[in-house]
Amino acid sequence: MAPSMGVWVVTGGAGFIGSHLVAWLLGRGDEVRVVDNLSTGKRENLKGLTGQLSFEQGDIASEGAWEKALAGAEGVFHLAAVSSVPRSVERPAESVRANVLGTARVLAAARAGKVRRVVYASSSSVYGDTRRLPVREDDPTNPLSPYAASKLGGEFLCRAFRATGGPEAVCLRFFNVFGPRQDPTSAYAAVIPRFIAALRAGKPPEVYGDGEQTRDFTYVENVVDALVCAMETRAADGGAFNVAAGGRTSINRLLAILGERLPGGKGARYSPARIGDVKHSSADISRAREALGYEPRVDLASGIDRLLAAG
Ligand SMILES: NC(=O)c1ccc[n+]([C@@H]2O[C@H](COP(=O)([O-])OP(=O)(O)OC[C@H]3O[C@@H](n4cnc5c(N)ncnc54)[C@H](O)[C@@H]3O)[C@@H](O)[C@H]2O)c1
Repeated sequence: MAPSMGVWVVTGGAGFIGSHLVAWLLGRGDEVRVVDNLSTGKRENLKGLTGQLSFEQGDIASEGAWEKALAGAEGVFHLAAVSSVPRSVERPAESVRANVLGTARVLAAARAGKVRRVVYASSSSVYGDTRRLPVREDDPTNPLSPYAASKLGGEFLCRAFRATGGPEAVCLRFFNVFGPRQDPTSAYAAVIPRFIAALRAGKPPEVYGDGEQTRDFTYVENVVDALVCAMETRAADGGAFNVAAGGRTSINRLLAILGERLPGGKGARYSPARIGDVKHSSADISRAREALGYEPRVDLASGIDRLLAAG
């Protein structure tokens, strides 16, 4: 990709995916302004980064000084969200507040600040249980949790603002992202860091359901590539794109891959399936390939190797 030297805002930049994006942009020599309320994100995720980085602590669902950070930026990567399915079932209003109201405020601030484009972090969960696999962007959406509904609401807001004089908008539907800095201690942690933590502690990992549910696990560097392509590819404006590795791995297979690498671990413990979880999830990524030039460079096994090597 050509060097850009742009000025970017990353909402949720202290979080898992956001901190990888911030590091990548700074590494290219760009200026980055992070907006985050540190609810799940951490300042230490940005530790050691050098370059033109500023941090504005603010809640995107409330008016605040953070809105000024968007003025004059070329683009906003909007990643801030309450990003857990189980949490959204327990506390739906909190998810809707951050993910829907927060997105409306980010879009309004982007419009006021004359931002060219917003790239919005949406989710594979907007599809729900799909009849066809791998799922394509023009398949029906069917959110099965307040989280999924709130992420789809954010997509609609992106389109609605774009239709009414707001910034260009690109929505990326991420599929099960994993990598360093994903929090394994959170009660809502994603499956890979949870399994690794259990195996390292010599405990049996907990599998919800029979373990035959499948996911399209996507290494975080692939997601950063997609975010940058979405910001910089002119023709992407107005689109929604699946961002995944394009594979289909069962939870039992994932456990086997991890077990080969962390042999001290014990067998799995199976618990009832969780409400709001979909049975199968796999992505057709041809639209992102064609329109964004996106190509997943890191497959599941290499991603797991990189993650384990990172500590
Ligand atoms: N990790 C995945 O597999 C995955 C899959 C699909 C979509 N996504 C989306 O990608 C984005 C990033 O997810 P992540 O996995 O890095 O999660 P994360 O929880 O690590 O990052 C979210 C960040 O947003 C911040 N935040 C939350 N509410 C905020 C608010 N009201 N105001 C300001 N900041 C706020 C948090 O402090 C955190 O730093 C989210 O929008 C999420 O919905 C993630």
